[in-house]
Amino acid sequence: MPPSPEAILDYVLIDPDRLQRRIAELGQQISDDYRDKNLILVGILKGSLVFMADLMRHIVVPHTLDFMDVTSYGAGKRASTGDVRILMDLHLSIEGRHVLIVEDIIDSGHTMAQVLRLLEARRPASLRVCTLLDKVERREVKMDIDYIGFPIDNVFVFGYGLDIDEYYRNLPYIGVVKSGVTLSESDENYSQPSAG
Ligand code: PRP
Repeated sequence: MPPSPEAILDYVLIDPDRLQRRIAELGQQISDDYRDKNLILVGILKGSLVFMADLMRHIVVPHTLDFMDVTSYGAGKRASTGDVRILMDLHLSIEGRHVLIVEDIIDSGHTMAQVLRLLEARRPASLRVCTLLDKVERREVKMDIDYIGFPIDNVFVFGYGLDIDEYYRNLPYIGVVKSGVTLSESDENYSQPSAG
């Protein structure tokens, strides 16, 4: 079993109140921007799940919801190569719809760049990006992000959808992992201060 969150937590970066206040603001802004538009929210699994669940409850315009699961080759080492494989595709057509992609974090940007390319080819009416966290210092692919919850420094974060070794997604805060924490010795991802 993994250690308790307290055992690996260095400090809380964004507490539940601050998260919820900002998500309410984003929901309001999105509701204003998509008034009278045929909106579909597209969550990128699995990290976006918790953010999506809270965000959508602050979006007061009618919308539908879909999910996509993608993985980057080499993502386990947090060295996205730009080669993104679809593990689970959307169930709904996005042609002619106003698409808002919902992510937990944009790091190198490779995942999002590929998702944008894939979805753009399906001829949506518009395509925008909403990310809870933006680790801009790590960016390798230039892109415009339309809605950003919190720009963050290059620290290894977990909680509120973001995992370590698939655990801790349920935490109500975004925490920073103590340096040197290694959960899975078989996966060097968890010893690097660059994931999550
Ligand atoms: C994370 C995150 C993004 C991606 C960002 O997903 O949710 O999809 O990495 O990294 P990038 O900007 O460097 O491409 P992850 O592969 O950890 O999967 P998960 O959402 O299932 O945790």
